[in-house]
Amino acid sequence: MNITVAPRLSDAPADSAVIVLQFQGEHLDQETTDALRACAAPDFEDAITREELKGRLYATTLLRGSPSALVVGLGKRGEFSEIRCRRAVEAGARYLTRHGFHDISVQLPSVSRNGTARMAVEAVIRGAYDEGLLKTADREDRSVREVVLIGGDGNVTRQGEVGEIIGESTNFARDLVNLPPNDISPKTFAERLVEMAEEVGLGVEVLEQPGLSELNMGAILNVGKGSSEPPRVIDLRYGNEQAPVKLALVGKGLTFDSGGLSIKTAAGMEWMKGDMAGAAAVAGAMRAIGLLQPAGIHVRGIIGAVENMPGPGAMKPGDVLRTMNGKTIEVLNTDAEGRLVLADVLTYAVRRAGATHIVDLATLTGAIEVALGNEAAGVMGRPDDWVRTVVAAADRALERLWQMPLYPEYRQRMDSELADMKNTGGRPGGALNAASLLEEFVDGVPWAHMDIAGVAWLERKSAYTSTGATGYGVATLVELATTMAGEQPA
Ligand code: BES
Ligand code: MN
Ligand code: ZN
Repeated sequence: MNITVAPRLSDAPADSAVIVLQFQGEHLDQETTDALRACAAPDFEDAITREELKGRLYATTLLRGSPSALVVGLGKRGEFSEIRCRRAVEAGARYLTRHGFHDISVQLPSVSRNGTARMAVEAVIRGAYDEGLLKTADREDRSVREVVLIGGDGNVTRQGEVGEIIGESTNFARDLVNLPPNDISPKTFAERLVEMAEEVGLGVEVLEQPGLSELNMGAILNVGKGSSEPPRVIDLRYGNEQAPVKLALVGKGLTFDSGGLSIKTAAGMEWMKGDMAGAAAVAGAMRAIGLLQPAGIHVRGIIGAVENMPGPGAMKPGDVLRTMNGKTIEVLNTDAEGRLVLADVLTYAVRRAGATHIVDLATLTGAIEVALGNEAAGVMGRPDDWVRTVVAAADRALERLWQMPLYPEYRQRMDSELADMKNTGGRPGGALNAASLLEEFVDGVPWAHMDIAGVAWLERKSAYTSTGATGYGVATLVELATTMAGEQPA
């Protein structure tokens, strides 16, 4: 894909379409109006007569001409957010790539702050995402050949290139989540990530059953016992291991979660191929980090890939597992498997990877979706300033992340009579109880746990996105890693 810069709307290539954003109930500025009159007069006059250009949130109006223009509504000025702005550009790109345009120009919105070029290119790539991965008929080419950025200042081209890497890595993560569980199993997931690592120059190690046994990873091994495929731990590596900052990105990678013997309902299982969205976000972020090459930081992407099934060898309610750090967990519900997997993988991050900072991402609890809906992920951890650093990175990356409390009392709900802890703590505060269990496995290293169960996939499509995987988390992790390395990506 080619990224170029043009000073004015009328300089956009004649066969492209320019995305122009409009606030609800406000007129486009004079320069834009003049340019639209010059490029697409008949459609523009028509739209004015029919009162089509109202700026309703994510509404699109195509004005054919040379170049064409697509006016996208930004909604009310009083409700403006950078996220809406990105989604409006996404909605525009989604519309255009579904209507035969491959060259897309964006009039960079002056309402948006710095990094607008990065946001715009990321949004175009996200909007062009093709969710019909396995369709064999009626597939249209939705590729973007060229993005032309209009206006903007600073190193617009470099910002755009960073946005391209983040957008494509987000779509890479979306593919992993959207692909069905008969295509992505622990084994094939690992194979795909090895291939990706080679492409972008990351180190990679895949631990299989013997390696996991040797490390005493009793928790992940037991979660995988009901499946015909044993688990894998995938360890992606970027940068010099001697660097003072070693950031571990840890992902829950349930390639399918049936619940195990505590089996889910049919409806509860429909989206459980997506229970590896945390791992996919980690993989996508590592891809981007490999391409962006931030200096002075060591980053590890550590993924627990496993399938939770009720096969003959399956873990049973009542089983007590011994984890990699020696602690024992009584399993009362085999569907609370993510925390078991993370227990071992977090210990691995601390003890084998020598992490100085940890972020884990997991579609861990239905409770977080009840709390925050599909609009924000929850984050819990310690110390507080590390959690706030992660929240700040999410803000800059235009992903909504909301801190939830981690009072020591939540941990008491996980007390077991028989073992060090049990794996469920009842309905109240379900997301927080789960987080309090994870803390047992980080040895006091700064750690933030992002529960992305509510934001990782959408069951309803909208103007700006398809159903299915959202790729949530990739942008935040890349922003975090690059700023910790002391480099603003753009
Ligand atoms: N993968 C699920 C969490 C989930 C639920 C993600 C709905 C997305 C949508 C997780 O493994 C799970 O089953 N959690 C249980 C925990 C409970 C048994 C303590 C839950 O949230 O119901
Ligand atoms: Mn489960
Ligand atoms: Zn799960």
